[in-house]
Amino acid sequence: MNIHISEHPTNLIAACADYVLTTLSQSIADRGIARIALAGGSTPIALYDFLATSAEATQLDWNCVTCYFGDERAVPQTHPDSNYLMADQHLFQPLNIPASHCFPMISKPMGDLSREADRYNTLLDRWAGPKGPVFDLILNGMGEDGHFASLFPQTPALDERQRWVAVNPVPQLSTERLTLTFPVFEQARAVCFLAAGDRKRAAFHAIQQPDSTLPSARLVQRRETAWFVDQACAGRAA
Ligand code: 6PG
Repeated sequence: MNIHISEHPTNLIAACADYVLTTLSQSIADRGIARIALAGGSTPIALYDFLATSAEATQLDWNCVTCYFGDERAVPQTHPDSNYLMADQHLFQPLNIPASHCFPMISKPMGDLSREADRYNTLLDRWAGPKGPVFDLILNGMGEDGHFASLFPQTPALDERQRWVAVNPVPQLSTERLTLTFPVFEQARAVCFLAAGDRKRAAFHAIQQPDSTLPSARLVQRRETAWFVDQACAGRAA
């Protein structure tokens, strides 16, 4: 884990944005395109707002960026819980990223969840290489229980190794979610986590224990990850 600790939320967002922009611009320089899988939830909102308004972000050729999602809730694109709606409002629209470069996991109108998973799986296969889809950057948040994307503890999608996208029943939330699966996270060129606040502190310390089996722990044990956290999250374990 390559951990960046910021004293204040504004520094945290700027540091994470710098990493995102650097990674995407290097991908564009190397291959003429940057494919990113975005995080949902609430923490990334400030990051997307920063990317949409900062001078640095205007240096990036967003026409070469294609935007996907790490996971999605089982709701229509117009629902307030939709990760796509959040990214559209805070990133795609402010940056005028064309719809042709944005790939929501849920169609409009919303289809059956397993059909949506199959559709996204096929979409990723269209540009996948021999190892499958290799994103240039995947941005994750982390839950208080150590989940990331919609890979929650003790859920079946944690063990999915054949498909890139899975429907994951999440009894903790009495719902089903769509999520990218471990092979996609493991083979991405870069993965970064953005976590803030003291509510994430216990999980942040727990996943660093070598014997942890929490979802985020399983990923950091398998590959390099960059972490952008504030002091409240990184502080001394309780
Ligand atoms: C989602 C996210 C999820 C999120 C964590 C942290 O769909 O909600 O993909 O994995 O990153 O739950 O959420 P917060 O940023 O709201 O704390």
